Amino acid sequence: MKDSRAVALQMCPFSDYFEAGLRERFEIVRWFELEKTVQPAWLKQHAPRVRAIVTSGHIGCSNELVEALPALGVVAINGVGVDKVDLQLARSREVRVTTTPGTLTEDVADLAVGLTISLLRSIPAADAYARSGHWARGDFPLGRKVSGRRFGIVGLGAIGLAIASRLSVFGPVAYTGPHRKPAPYAFVADLVELANASDVLVLACPATAATRHIVDARVLEALGPSSYLVNIARGAVVDESALIAALQTGALAGAALDVFDNEPHVPEALRAIPRVVLTPHIASATVETRTHMANIVLANLDAFLAGQALPTAVV
Ligand code: 8YV
Repeated sequence: MKDSRAVALQMCPFSDYFEAGLRERFEIVRWFELEKTVQPAWLKQHAPRVRAIVTSGHIGCSNELVEALPALGVVAINGVGVDKVDLQLARSREVRVTTTPGTLTEDVADLAVGLTISLLRSIPAADAYARSGHWARGDFPLGRKVSGRRFGIVGLGAIGLAIASRLSVFGPVAYTGPHRKPAPYAFVADLVELANASDVLVLACPATAATRHIVDARVLEALGPSSYLVNIARGAVVDESALIAALQTGALAGAALDVFDNEPHVPEALRAIPRVVLTPHIASATVETRTHMANIVLANLDAFLAGQALPTAVV
């Protein structure tokens, strides 16, 4: 490595625009492309030059890597989720952590609505049907009405609120979470009770120890065979095995998922079920929003390199 600049470890691919901005500021090491067998030797030789980790909300970085970087000063997250970065460890190591707050709320909420309509009206299957030439043999099967359905939202943070605002145009919205919020929607303290009263349950909560697998077999049973699950939060908030079983037996009418337990791998059993809509964690993936996010990450990195206050630090 001949560059004398500080090194930043890049944990996943980003847009060309974002990666060009990173290269202007740091000597970039594309850590996700470095063979795992080579990483220890690389660290032994270069770890002291690493000042930054740049990662995604759903990828984060391991404690082992943070511990191996004696000069690490900042973990810059291109996203809002902090569940994949140990904030306590960062605090103890005086490593700053930044996110891109408020940037992706609209896109994620828009996708939640799009997934809901796609699921109930079977849009992906209808598109395939129209392309297949099978329409000449008969009409596409009936879907389910979206307007007038009862919507339950798990987690009424900024994203949950944006989803509620959009879905309230279609039908009544209720929500659950750790506490009641000043919002014009019915608060239901108990998740099973909310599931019982919902035709579509939308997950918009952060992934924490408290929310891990909160949608389990009991909640799915309460949702029932005429109801649907939409997840734009994190795969970890759903017991994926219980979800697959409920879908396979018909105990749940269908599911639309943008997040999964072991991304980028989607279980074969899930991929084989017709009554699901699957998207590869694209909720914030628009040109406009990802450019906005990149600019916020780059502004934080500029401030870090200049020794100034970081615009959107969470640690
Ligand atoms: C990010 C996410 O947009 O914000 C998060 O935590 O999960 C996202 O959808 C994604 O990580 C892209 O960096």
